[in-house]
Amino acid sequence: MITVPDFKKRKAAKQALSMITCYDSSFATLLADSPIDILLIGDSSAMVMHGYDSTIHSTVDAIAVHVAAVARGVRHKPKFIVADMPFLSTRKGLEYGVAAAEALLKAGAHAVKVEGIRGNESLVSHLVESGIPVMGHLGLTPQFVNAFGGMKVQATTPEQQDWLVQDAKTYEKCGAFSLVLECVPQTIATKTTSLLSIPTIGIGAGVNVDGQVLVLQDLLGFNPGFKPKFLRSYLNGYELFQDAFKKFHDDVTEKRFPSDQESYS
Ligand code: KIV
Repeated sequence: MITVPDFKKRKAAKQALSMITCYDSSFATLLADSPIDILLIGDSSAMVMHGYDSTIHSTVDAIAVHVAAVARGVRHKPKFIVADMPFLSTRKGLEYGVAAAEALLKAGAHAVKVEGIRGNESLVSHLVESGIPVMGHLGLTPQFVNAFGGMKVQATTPEQQDWLVQDAKTYEKCGAFSLVLECVPQTIATKTTSLLSIPTIGIGAGVNVDGQVLVLQDLLGFNPGFKPKFLRSYLNGYELFQDAFKKFHDDVTEKRFPSDQESYS
């Protein structure tokens, strides 16, 4: 299992990091047997698992339930687990933020991910100094969807690109061990990556970052209607699953299931 000190080593060795979101025990068990480096219990669970239209509905309790399920799923082959600090959990004072991070680590995470550094500097430093590793997240930070006016590519102007670089350096200064860059032009992702000693993990940030992350259900092609430019689906999951459901349904209605061999005598 990769550990926090390995992240910088992987960047130095130019060995890219792979991260996938995971919210439940059955996929966690599958992923435990895979070479994927990091499992992220993202606040995207509010959308993917609970059907909300944004991540602002995520809560510490909900993320903790998903973290615990994933941690149980990888018991036989542990993986590095990162848990999202959900909407506003970093903004209710140091004590609240520490308690939230504590709940996520006690549920089974090895690190937390914090969206945005402005106003979160002291919390991030405090968590790091308390032994709670922090992964940063900049660019299209979905918890800011209302401020951004939608899910749009970020850091598109020179001024915004300067902010991105400054914010990335602040994360590094506060002790973050890695940084997610989401939906930013690849030129600025490349520049930011070159200016940091901690690895960047991109989603919609081009190839010149130190790792890549995708949402599991997107990677598996569960939602063919969701086709952002950055997404590569590695399976036609929607069709494969529909095919299996239809075959079961047809076997049931045609009385082909169960057979004698599948029945107790
Ligand atoms: O919540 C999430 O799934 C994320 C990734 C997209 C980086 O934060």
